[in-house]
Amino acid sequence: MPITTCIFDAYGTLFDVAASARQAASEPEYSAIKDDWPQLAEHWRAKQLSYSWLRAVAGAHCDFWQVTQEGLDWALEKTGHDNDSALRERLLQLYWELGAYAEVPAMLTALKDAGLNTGILSNGSPAMLRGAVDSAGIDGVLDALLSVESVGIFKPDARVYDLVGAAFGCAKDEVLFVSSNGWDAAAATGYGFTTAWVNRAGEPVDRLPWTPVHTLEDLTGIPALAGI
Ligand code: LAC
Repeated sequence: MPITTCIFDAYGTLFDVAASARQAASEPEYSAIKDDWPQLAEHWRAKQLSYSWLRAVAGAHCDFWQVTQEGLDWALEKTGHDNDSALRERLLQLYWELGAYAEVPAMLTALKDAGLNTGILSNGSPAMLRGAVDSAGIDGVLDALLSVESVGIFKPDARVYDLVGAAFGCAKDEVLFVSSNGWDAAAATGYGFTTAWVNRAGEPVDRLPWTPVHTLEDLTGIPALAGI
């Protein structure tokens, strides 16, 4: 079947999750992290995701804003910044306004101009996704913001990927699912979507039972993969 629907992961895929720590580190008030902000950002992201998976398998769901804060608290303690409450508040504030990667607006516009459905499918809570989309100014080129909150479990549970067919009335093989998270792209392949892994950092492929169908360095090639 031709692709009718392009669905994007949010954090790391459309929005640069390292931007929060990078931005704070550039501000004089938060110069305490000017040298180790990359480690802080990496620990933050790793814990945020691992807490989401652990809560999913343990049946202990909470929303993504809570695991985002809990992951940050672990990362701040790991890097010796746990007594800096102003830094914590600034990092969390910046998470609501991460900004989209440079190629995102033109790429989404190309998909919409070609008549394709577009949407986000994310662990993010509805409020987080609304904040990120509005801050990036891409609301007009997205048809749906689909959050795991409507099924109460994190990716890669299949009930999350089911939200796409429910929202758009499309078959799995009409969906191009795009994620910078190798595990998300892999699991979505297992689910039945055509997948594109955006591997900006040149990471090794995840050793899982499935692999992404396509691998790209950034999002500029997505319209071509969608048949435009
Ligand atoms: C998301 C995380 C996994 O947006 O990046 O769902």
